[in-house]
Amino acid sequence: LSCSAEAKTVVIGLAADSGCGKSTFMRRLTSVFGGAAEPPKGGNPDSNTLISDTTTVICLDDYHSLDRTGRKEKGVTALDPRANNFDLMYEQVKAIKDGIAVDKPIYNHVTGLLDPPELIQPPKILVIEGLHPMYDSRVRDLLDFSIYLDISNEVKFAWKIQRDMAERGHSLESIKASIEARKPDFDAYIDPQKQYADAVIEVLPTELIPDDNEGKVLRVKLVMKEGVKYFSPVYLFDEGSTISWIPCGRKLTCSYPGIKFAYGPDSYYSHEVSVLEMDGQFDRLDELIYVESHLSNISTKFYGEVTQQMLKHADFPGSNNGTGLFQTIIGLKIRDLYEQLVAEKAAAPVEAAKV
Ligand code: ADP
Ligand code: G6P
Repeated sequence: LSCSAEAKTVVIGLAADSGCGKSTFMRRLTSVFGGAAEPPKGGNPDSNTLISDTTTVICLDDYHSLDRTGRKEKGVTALDPRANNFDLMYEQVKAIKDGIAVDKPIYNHVTGLLDPPELIQPPKILVIEGLHPMYDSRVRDLLDFSIYLDISNEVKFAWKIQRDMAERGHSLESIKASIEARKPDFDAYIDPQKQYADAVIEVLPTELIPDDNEGKVLRVKLVMKEGVKYFSPVYLFDEGSTISWIPCGRKLTCSYPGIKFAYGPDSYYSHEVSVLEMDGQFDRLDELIYVESHLSNISTKFYGEVTQQMLKHADFPGSNNGTGLFQTIIGLKIRDLYEQLVAEKAAAPVEAAKV
């Protein structure tokens, strides 16, 4: 009996509402793995897939069972499980995880129709991003790591306006109406998935400016589950302690309203977590090295890697605050998890041979 040491695809789930920074997160993640992900060459120009040397990112909208007209006729939103084919999602993610290529449907965001499928080869890392990566328990069980981007309503609104007005030409009223219309289904089907996430990035309005309603300065929390295999939470100064830190001073330039970090243990949906928090924004990104040097367990390969990544993508949204910082750190943690999983699989046949 020969036992192949062939590494299986590692599967990562990224859940969030649309317009909440998933694409930006994906760009940071694939950059950590050493290459930008691009649409498949020579395929459907409306494909939602992104491919790099190591990573394939598929958008779960491709598993819509009802197209735009179908949803309208049945009166269901894209967030409703009845508009999505979880059987097919499960079958295909499982097949890829087992090293088998699949013909994945394409949901065309331009036409609102389902296009002919595209062939997806098993990559080293498969990221499934979208509204429901943790909704179906069979799909959830296939995930080696899961992340939920939890954007508070105030912040979501500000971002959506920015994108949908500038890039998609929607009116303020139509954006407001679409957010309101989505809210009940969002609360029922999307939000509850965060209880299953190994890491949650929560984005809230700042607490540094009293009654802030501009939504520009953000308070960002990185909630990390304890006891997850191959994932050890990041900490500030001293693991397990409760810490509040204002790094502004001689080594970090801060203008109003400053920067405040916090770290400590907490509980989240009745499981133990560590929470790292950053409120405020960086004035000078190169000085981030000062903050980085006080964080431990960040899974960098060399001193200053977080700062280097942040500087490299200084033009991405959120690079001056906790969203960019924590997305970058989670990218490094996923690389670490991937390397540990591969190392374990490579060692497994050797262990078996010893017996
Ligand atoms: P998604 O892929 O989830 O639809 P994107 O990554 O395309 O989301 O982001 C949508 C929009 O939200 C961006 O164009 C930007 O305006 C805003 N945005 C996303 N992430 C951030 C962030 N960290 N800080 C500020 N704005 C952001
Ligand atoms: C995709 C997005 C959803 C969005 C939908 C548009 O599925 O992921 O977030 O709501 O497209 O749906 P609509 O029914 O308005 O075309």
